[in-house]
Amino acid sequence: MRIVVMVSGSGTNLQAVLDAVREGRIDVEIAAVGADKPCRGLERAEAAGIETFVVAPREHPDRARWNRALERAVAAHAPDRVLFAGFMRIVDAAFVEAFSGRIINTHPSLLPSFPGAHAVRDALAHGVKVTGVTVHEVVADVDAGPILAQAAVPVLPGDTEEELHERIKTAERALLVDTLGALAREGALRDAR
Ligand code: GRF
Repeated sequence: MRIVVMVSGSGTNLQAVLDAVREGRIDVEIAAVGADKPCRGLERAEAAGIETFVVAPREHPDRARWNRALERAVAAHAPDRVLFAGFMRIVDAAFVEAFSGRIINTHPSLLPSFPGAHAVRDALAHGVKVTGVTVHEVVADVDAGPILAQAAVPVLPGDTEEELHERIKTAERALLVDTLGALAREGALRDAR
């Protein structure tokens, strides 16, 4: 299974996928890693010898044209799947349509609880005792697509947002690698039929 990974930040989820690919634990080829700005995630990709690209919103006159540029940049690598691994931009319906059913996102809560950019903060503020991570298919509505996998993570007394997010990210990296591995196996089975 050939994938393009999109990142915006530290790229620890990307690193977990890079490591799993390098160690032969999942049958995935990372064709390229893209971002909306220079970030640590891109550096991780470069260090692994993977092609990178940046499609920055400020270099495009409006959201639609940024989306089309991103679409072209991703499509140029002919991916079977597109993985949003900490990609903090919302893509439009036409982008979702271009890769329909093939975009995967990881989100640091048990969806449908706490969608949006502040999932960990919102879970803490709500006082939940269990939160977690969701790997799901991307649809036009934000954080709303079919759920592929989830893992629960406890909220401990006195947790800060950073502490809770770190605990979630540990679970997130494992769940993401497992889910990608399963999708790659399913794809290989389909191709063999
Ligand atoms: C992850 O928890 C992701 O779900 C969230 O931001 C974090 C990104 O972490 N949206 P990293 O860049 O993979 O380290």
